[in-house]
Order: sequence, then C-alpha cells, then structure tokens
Amino acid sequence: MCGIVGYIGEQQAAPILLDGLSKLEYRGYDSAGMAVYNGKEIDMVKSMGKLKVLEEMTHGGSTLPGFSGIGHTRWATHGSPTDVNAHPHYNKDSSIVVVHNGIIENYMKLRRKLEGKGYQFVSETDTEVLAHLLDYYYKGDPLDAISKVMYWVEGSYALGILFQDFPGEIYAVRKDSPLIAGQGKDGNFIASDVPAILKYTRDVYFIENQEIVKVTKDSLNFYNIDKEEVQKESSRIEWDISAAEKEGYEYFMLKEIYEQPKAVMDTLHPRLKDQDIVIEELGMTDEEILAVSKIYIVACGSAYHTGVTAKYVFEGLARIPVEVDLASEFRYRRPIFQPGTLVIIVSQSGETADSLAALREAKSCGVRTLGIVNVVGSSIAREADNVLYTWAGPEIAVATTKAYSTQLIAQYLLALKFAKVRNEIDDSQFQSMLYDLEKLPDQIEFLLGNKEKIQHFANRYLATEHVFFIGRGIDYAISLEGSLKLKEISYIHSEAYAAGELKHGTISLIEQDTLVVALVTQKELYKKTLSNMQEVRTRGAFVMAVTNAGNKEVEKSADYVIYLPETNPYFTNSLAVIPLQLFSYYVSLGKGLDVDKPRNLAKSVTVE
Ligand code: M6R
Repeated sequence: MCGIVGYIGEQQAAPILLDGLSKLEYRGYDSAGMAVYNGKEIDMVKSMGKLKVLEEMTHGGSTLPGFSGIGHTRWATHGSPTDVNAHPHYNKDSSIVVVHNGIIENYMKLRRKLEGKGYQFVSETDTEVLAHLLDYYYKGDPLDAISKVMYWVEGSYALGILFQDFPGEIYAVRKDSPLIAGQGKDGNFIASDVPAILKYTRDVYFIENQEIVKVTKDSLNFYNIDKEEVQKESSRIEWDISAAEKEGYEYFMLKEIYEQPKAVMDTLHPRLKDQDIVIEELGMTDEEILAVSKIYIVACGSAYHTGVTAKYVFEGLARIPVEVDLASEFRYRRPIFQPGTLVIIVSQSGETADSLAALREAKSCGVRTLGIVNVVGSSIAREADNVLYTWAGPEIAVATTKAYSTQLIAQYLLALKFAKVRNEIDDSQFQSMLYDLEKLPDQIEFLLGNKEKIQHFANRYLATEHVFFIGRGIDYAISLEGSLKLKEISYIHSEAYAAGELKHGTISLIEQDTLVVALVTQKELYKKTLSNMQEVRTRGAFVMAVTNAGNKEVEKSADYVIYLPETNPYFTNSLAVIPLQLFSYYVSLGKGLDVDKPRNLAKSVTVE
C-alpha cells in the first residue's frame, strides 16, 4: 500500500524522508519518490523499484538538499509501476507537487475536464489529476485551492503537497485514507502511518476526514474543508516500532481482517455509477457480453473458493454455465472450449505459477481471458486480455482475508453486470442488489465488533484435532474457505463437506464433541441443512451455526449460533466469512503459533 512521509525543519529533509519511507517498506510498494524545496524551486527524484534505487540515485538524499520535502512509496493502482507513474506528481510549471494515497474515483471525468482546459498529462495515474486541479484553483492561497479541490474530488485520499510559493509550509489533507501529523523537536512531520516518524516523535495528531493541516518547522495548524481553523489534541504513541507497523494489531492477519470494510468499499465504489455498474476495464461491449456462452473460473486456494461462490452467482443471476477449476488441474486437462467462452483467472498476487500457466493455456487456444488480480502490473495482469483489479492493497499475512473479500466483490459485480445486460434480472432486482452490495462494508464492520465473543469461543478449541465445515450451495463454498483458513494457520485438521454428502462417508468420523461448523445462510436450503446438523448432533457433535438474523429455528439444531445481518442470499459469503476468519485467527493465536507465517507456506506460490 502507498506510504507518505513529509518533513519540514532544521535538518536536511531528504535523508529523513528516505528513513521514514524505509519504515513503510513492510507494506509493499513498487516505486518510490521524493520532492524537496531546494531554496529556489522544487526538485524531484523518483523511480520504480525498491527504495535502495532512490537512495543510490540521490546518494542517500545528499543530492536533494533542502529543509522541506515530501516522499512516497507507491503500490500501483492506476497505471503500471513505472518511473513516470511513481509519485510525486507536478503541475505544469513544477511549482506544485503532490503525493497521494488512495483512489480518486472520478479521475477520468476530471482528467477530461482538465485536458479540455489545455492541461497535459504525462502519467496514467489518478494522482496527476490532483496536481493539475490544484494548479487550476491556485490563486495565491494554498488553503483555498486545496479546499476547492476537495469539493470536486470523489474517492479516498491522503495527500502531501508542496507549493513553491510557500517554501516554509507543507500541506496535507485526507479523506478515507489515514494521515497523521507529528510534532518533533527541530521540525514537524506528516505521514500516512506512525512507523514512518516514530524515530523522530511520539506526539502525533490524527487528521480527521476532510481536515487539512498546514505544517511549518515550528507549528501545526488544522482546518476544515471550509478553511476554518480547528483545534486538535495530540496523542502520545506508546507502541514500539513493530507494533506500530501493524497499527497496534498483534498480527498483520488481524489488521487485514479489519481492513476489509475499506477494501470492499474501494473495490466496489469506483464501479458503481448513476445506479449502474460501470466496469471500463472489462473491455467488453454489450454484444460481447451477450455472446458469452460459458465461463471458466480458474484459480488456486482461497481464490478458487471465491470462484466456487461465483459459480452460484453467475449461474443464478446471469444464467451462464460456469465451470470452476483448480488452476493446477485446468492447465493439464485440455478443456474443450466452445465459441463464446470466457476464462476468468482469479489471483491476489498475479504470480501464482499454476494460475499463470492456466491463463497461458487458455490464451494459446484463442479463448478470451480476464484477470481478477490485486497486484497491478503482475504477470497475470499483464498477460490477460483484460484485467479487473481488486483494490485490497498489499496483503502481508500468508492467509488471505481482504484479498479474498475483494475477489468476491469483483465477481458479484461481473455477474450482476452480465445479468443486467442479458436481461436476466429486472431493474428493481438489480437496484435492490446494488443497495445490498453498498451495505456490505458497514455490515462487515458490524460483524468485526463481535470479535471478543468469537475469541472466547475459539479458546475452547485450541486442543481440538478435527473440525468439519458443512453447508449447501453457497454455504458449501463458504465452508471450503472456513476450513482452509483454519487448517492453514492453526494446523488443526479440518474438512469442508457439502452437507448432503456427509452420510456418504464422512459422518463416520463424528465422535463425541467433534466440532462441526454449519453454514446456514441460504433460505431455501435451511431445512435440509438443519437435518444434517441434527444427524451429526445425535452422534455427539458440538454444532456451531452461522446463519441469518432471525433464523431462530436453527437454535434447535445448534449449540452455538452466530447471526449475520440480512443481505441478498447471493452475497452472504461476504458476511459469513468474517466470523470464520476471526475464529481461525484466534485459534492460531491461542495456540501461540506464528499467525502471519504458517509453516510450509509462502504468500505467493511461484513454483508448480
Ligand atoms: O496469489 P493467489 O491469489 O493466486 O494465491 C492463491 C492461493 O495460493 C492463496 O489463495 C492461498 O490459498 C492462501 N494462502 C489462502 O489463505
């Protein structure tokens, strides 16, 4: 995820910026840059690759002399990881320079507007729009220009800004992207995250949404969007650097679980426009969508599990037949493609060897391919005919959580779009589903509020040896993910079973107190799953059920129940997976395991 650091004070800025950026490296990035006021104008150096490149280019910062500057590490979203797309970005005469975290959702519209006024863009980024928009509104008052830009820009942002006319000041502003200001001894700071400045100060101000901060070497002033000054209290950071990297969370996995409402919103929002779904990156006309006769969803691990859910959603809504394949199988099984086939490859890293090979296999047969990928510029993103990015930000824990959730969202959007274009759903159903989609981030947030209850429950199962996850339809797909999450980080043997299959073998494994987790979110299948729960319960199982709010019936067949907020049945996976992630996390934590780095596993599986 992108990182921001800014400094103004009595020391040389560039070495401090490099040091601050190095503390954000753990978050993942693909390019880095700095801009420093040199006493006359603003100098800038930026490059793709690691911070080491920037250090070498500037000889540790010494070739960028000056006492105020801003730095950035970029995790590419709009535009591939290149030198030109790296931040900072200049306005036309290099007198205003900007670094940005977040996503500007209406950047295309703003870009067209600015191009119409003669502005020339050099990068593919959404950020460059901000530099030119600031230029457009700047009439000698930085605060005024920033507040005008805030009124125009939609999306999320944390910005660091330098104005050449105001060399003794740095400006920063945020909306839905974190930003802090720090008060040091001989200078002041801005940063996207505490670790970047913890070496220099522990006294920080947390900037609220739509607040602007003006930083000089000995003052920090805060303003609202209407340029009125606001008073703020500083906070003292008591964490050490490693806790600060995780923003106070004990493990990255928990931090990433908590980032899901935002990740889901970032993946969803830019594609919802005027009560419609607009996926420009899809590169398919309505005629081409109508011509799709079959979809293959190909992936590995958790990404494959999102495909299992998506099969139900695509088939149910868009009435297109879907096959879901493990990439390691697909690549060797010589599938028979018919005209109108679309192959969707789902991958967080975009580098998974089997998924990449499956993509190449499909392409070699002349089939249209679409990547659903989190890492911009990765191999699958580059090689697929089209790519739909999930905007989860970098995921550090080996066990995926937020990438999984955003992969689901990307596929819901596609399925709904296809269903609408193919006239399989009417407008009122479409609108009601959009409404339910928009509610998901808040509903996920609500479920995260239950973590103590789940931790308490998880602590009872630290010594258990076997756990079974059961469900039907989409609930089976959720079971697959719940089971994988548990086994990969807790080392407890677990299996996911389609509930109706239990009595064809697995039920013989049920003993006194075996934990069975039953997913019961699909109304038309309630009764069927309830009877499977009864079957295992009468053989001694302890049944934990995850079901929809109001389904009190379930209490007769379960020993412990977690209720989910109401949503469309096609979207329940997005909610049901949250308690399952938390359950696995707390079992692993309780067993004292390394939650983020489970044994024998790698984050990105680049070998076969
Ligand atoms: O990077 P990818 O999404 O292609 O990775 C696929 C799987 O390796 C991945 O989902 C794996 O199963 C996760 N560690 C599960 O948490």
